[in-house]
Amino acid sequence: MADLYQFRTAPEDPLDCVYFLHTTGSDPTANIAFDAKEQRALRAKIKGLAPRGEEGELISGECPLDTAHRVTFVGLGDENTLTHGKLRGALLTVMRQATKNREYQIGLAVSARVHGLSESESRLFVLREASIADYTFDRFKSKKNEFDKIDGLHIFPLAKETEEQLEERLDSVRMLRTSVQLARDLSNRPGNDLTPETFAAAAREMAEGLSGLRVTILGKKELIKEKMGGILAVSQGSFEEPRMIVLEHRPKKPKRSVVLIGKGVTFDSGGISLKPAKDMGDMKSDMAGGATVIGVMRAVAELELPIKVVGLVPTAENMPSGTAIRPGDIITTSSGKTVEVDNTDAEGRLLLADALHYAGRFNPDIIIDFATLTGACVVALGHEAAGIMGNDPELLATLSSIGEKVGERVWPLPNYDEYLSYLSSDWADLKNAGGRWGGAVTAGIFLKQFVPEKASWAHIDIAGVAYLEKVHNGLPKGATGFGVVLATNFLQELLK
Ligand code: BES
Ligand code: MN
Ligand code: ZN
Repeated sequence: MADLYQFRTAPEDPLDCVYFLHTTGSDPTANIAFDAKEQRALRAKIKGLAPRGEEGELISGECPLDTAHRVTFVGLGDENTLTHGKLRGALLTVMRQATKNREYQIGLAVSARVHGLSESESRLFVLREASIADYTFDRFKSKKNEFDKIDGLHIFPLAKETEEQLEERLDSVRMLRTSVQLARDLSNRPGNDLTPETFAAAAREMAEGLSGLRVTILGKKELIKEKMGGILAVSQGSFEEPRMIVLEHRPKKPKRSVVLIGKGVTFDSGGISLKPAKDMGDMKSDMAGGATVIGVMRAVAELELPIKVVGLVPTAENMPSGTAIRPGDIITTSSGKTVEVDNTDAEGRLLLADALHYAGRFNPDIIIDFATLTGACVVALGHEAAGIMGNDPELLATLSSIGEKVGERVWPLPNYDEYLSYLSSDWADLKNAGGRWGGAVTAGIFLKQFVPEKASWAHIDIAGVAYLEKVHNGLPKGATGFGVVLATNFLQELLK
């Protein structure tokens, strides 16, 4: 991805193009730090090209400033309906346009604000999304793009923004985007490349590159010792052995204690309850929750947050074979609770049951799990929000308000006790599937049975937002890295 700079009035070489993003009827240069002379020159140019700022508008011309060859005006539409998605989409348009025109150094001037956000919230969003808008996953392309990528993204300061302020914002954005990129890269890797073993190796590699993260990998032997019947059951049909990735950030005098858990199914075929062939390949991203947790742990260590944070990623591959679990099997999880496997495709909750129980030993105040858990959640919410449920309304409210700000939205699912009856089993303590109705809720209710007492807990079902079949809301096709920004902001907010 392009390097991120603060635009200095005299870069060594002129930029290839400066992109102005503006809403309908607004002055593209408004609230951007230009001096009077630049302002005049730009005004004259704007008069000539007459951009209206309507959604989808794209107008280019020669740049009247010495600092760039060309200018392009990108319309954002009505300022009162400017959403995270539209702004992200416009930033994606910028990157595509720049790539198409072979522009290596580009400038970005944006003062428009996401509707409903404060100036600084919106500014951080724009900078963060701009910094990641040229993300691509080309690990397996032998012929990389001929144009080898935008080199530099130069941000024009706002009129009210000091150099220090902008530099500080850029620093936080550079840090976060690396974590988002890591989460996306992991989720985009296919099942033959990212196995539980290589997933654990990637987590170890990340942790060892930073100070302050302890990494422990539990292998099959250790999982057997811990009696983690859920993780072992899911993996038993696969050639690949399961793991539990444990990342610990333990500062000296921690203010709080948080455990983050991410579902790490490196490929979900459904097992004996095999999924249909159509789009089954997308199930390479069924470890997106785990990828998010690894991304967040990276950010936590980098930020040296004074919070004890433990990241747990139970990881396995769900395959059908002669050694696979069968519908009807009864397994014993590490908590001692027995589960009748009604459907081998409801595997995520089996892994998470063991991880939730394991979380108890860290005495967390708060547990948050991220999981591509149910198709039912996608049916309910589409790609616009993740589902959230839990046992502490205040925690859920905090997460949802942060989600609205950072553009990673979560929407509440109910947590009524009545749903537990959907999971009752004639033969074991509970079943792993609750039938057709309320699938996203019953999955969460299942998890709730394994949450350690006293912990505040939130479950975030990211099935609809972690991976996209096509570009949507300015997010790329494939993995989005959903949750990295939300969780990192949440942890920072805990310190306030
Ligand atoms: N990984 C899937 C859920 C999923 C579906 C994620 C679509 C992303 C997109 C999960 O393991 C699963 O298969 N869930 C089942 C549960 C059912 C059998 C109770 C589902 O949602 O159908
Ligand atoms: Mn499944
Ligand atoms: Zn799954």
